[in-house]
Amino acid sequence: MQLIVSRLTQEAQDVLGLELRAPDGAALPAFTAGAHVDLHLPGAICRQYSLANSPLERDRYVLGVGLAPASRGGSAYVHQRLAVGDVVEVGAPRALFGLAPYASEHLFVAGGIGITPILSMVLWCEAHGHPWRLLYCVRTRARAAYAWTLARHGDRVALHVDQETDGVPPDLAGWLQRTPPGAHVYCCGPEGLMSAVGVAAAGVGVLRSATHFERFAAPASPVSAQPAGSFNVLLRRSGRTLSVQPGQSLLEALEEASVSVPFSCREGMCRSCEVPLLAGEAEHRDFVLSDEERDAHRSILPCVSRARSAELVLDL
Ligand code: FES
Repeated sequence: MQLIVSRLTQEAQDVLGLELRAPDGAALPAFTAGAHVDLHLPGAICRQYSLANSPLERDRYVLGVGLAPASRGGSAYVHQRLAVGDVVEVGAPRALFGLAPYASEHLFVAGGIGITPILSMVLWCEAHGHPWRLLYCVRTRARAAYAWTLARHGDRVALHVDQETDGVPPDLAGWLQRTPPGAHVYCCGPEGLMSAVGVAAAGVGVLRSATHFERFAAPASPVSAQPAGSFNVLLRRSGRTLSVQPGQSLLEALEEASVSVPFSCREGMCRSCEVPLLAGEAEHRDFVLSDEERDAHRSILPCVSRARSAELVLDL
């Protein structure tokens, strides 16, 4: 959909707030807390940004865009070129990160710009009277986006500032110590913080299925470094068989054969390329399928995943 940039706000050092509305003021497609949208920018650049506002608001989307130090054009364009009144192409909201409906309490850990989906979740909890706590980790106070909004929630929000602790990491185990039974833990931030939260949550007895992560970028993975051999793919609907070569992704093989599959990140992060898998065993190299989904082998993300069996049969 084409949306107009209605407001730009400096939320913190290197964090720009972007408010988007329909040009005619119409209601926008609903979203759930933690959802994100694809932002299509000039130069065929597509970036995913989390929605930071309350899901109860239907007249606008609010994004918080951090300026990436090694920006490949996405965040640099937003920070340096985008202006109020510009029209941008925005995809429909997608939810890969969201609140567990039956959690007794929601415990959030945000690192830096990872606050954006968490803020939307906090707003949802506040609107519905659901218990929550937040540990917000930033390098400096100047980089703490939305701190003014969160300050009103008193001791529900704990702020950890690296610069003020001489680099001593946050006491995650201590913060999670008071976790009640049935609570769910959510983390969005740098890979190191997410790993530490995973370890700390497991340490206080939070089940893996009650721990949720939202990644900004594909982490270095031993699986993706493994050799990528060739395999065959049978496309059930057309009856065609394709051969995927070493070093070529399944998505690239499909594109080469003019088989159209939607995609966005091409890194196994967004799930937009997901294809039903009818037979064969996938070697899942993505970062979004759950353990249960991996074991079921009912779908595959062709941008990164490959075959463990000699052939895969896809519903294409
Ligand atoms: S394109 Fe994003 S997971 Fe495949």
